[in-house]
Amino acid sequence: MFTLAHLSDPHLGPLPRVKFRELFSKRIMGYANWHVRRRGRHDMACLAGLTRDLLDQKPDHIACTGDLAVIGLDAEFTPARAFLEKLGDPKHVSVVPGNHDSYVRGTADHPQLHWSEYMTGDGERVEGDPHFPYVRRRGKIGIVGISTAVPTGFHSAQGRIGKEQAEAVTALLRQLGEEGLFRVVLIHHPPSGTGDIFRRLTDARRIKRSVLRAGAELILHGHTHKAERTTLLGLDGPVHAVGVPSASAGPEDRTGPGAYNLYRIGGEPGAWRCEMITRGFAHGETGIAERQRLLLIDPEAVHLAPPPGLAL
Ligand SMILES: [Fe+2]
Repeated sequence: MFTLAHLSDPHLGPLPRVKFRELFSKRIMGYANWHVRRRGRHDMACLAGLTRDLLDQKPDHIACTGDLAVIGLDAEFTPARAFLEKLGDPKHVSVVPGNHDSYVRGTADHPQLHWSEYMTGDGERVEGDPHFPYVRRRGKIGIVGISTAVPTGFHSAQGRIGKEQAEAVTALLRQLGEEGLFRVVLIHHPPSGTGDIFRRLTDARRIKRSVLRAGAELILHGHTHKAERTTLLGLDGPVHAVGVPSASAGPEDRTGPGAYNLYRIGGEPGAWRCEMITRGFAHGETGIAERQRLLLIDPEAVHLAPPPGLAL
């Protein structure tokens, strides 16, 4: 049995001191938004409690699907690195960046500069420029990390995969499938859409096509700050895409109280078993506890594969 923990969107605060010139960009909106709306919703004490609870579960691996930063200031990336180090060493923690981590063009490459060991595939050089997708093998698990983080204009929180990255994802998923691994895709933006044109993954069709052509067992995402579960059509049957609330949201957050998921994965190709356990806060309760437990992938379930030749 392999236990994978997933958390996302901690939006680490407090914001460091901002230099006046740093606000001459889209950051001015994000800065105002943080102070008016968001600051109160991302509680670092709640995040510390949630992180402690997660580490107490002793997962074999931790996935963090981005948005550690708020407005991509230079000075946000070192504290974010310290947060990752608290989660664990880079071998046990896999990260993909979110749109807030590549907020503006000037610091768009800072996730790679500061967190590279957490986003480097097996056997790749740690120094230098990690590229996406990366692949990591941990026991029976194959992790594919995708970046959808691209700097965008005012009022936009969109993401993009790109043709080249999507083609590499398809090849990697195929390869991991042939190796008989349980394939987990990490991606910040939800592949099934957000319902908000300014926050969506603009080329979501690419990841859908990769999963349809090559298959996958599980997709983990963040971005919406909501606990949500959708299904993509995969080569061998439905593929669950699961999102978690912000890890720093307090119990009264209107989008969703802070939580993380644990996945207990066992079985073998064609008969995988995956149990999902949600732990975190609940409205009206300040304690962290188990909130949900369900059998996400049932080895007894029979699925119809999509008809041959079906294209998205
Ligand atoms: Fe995001």
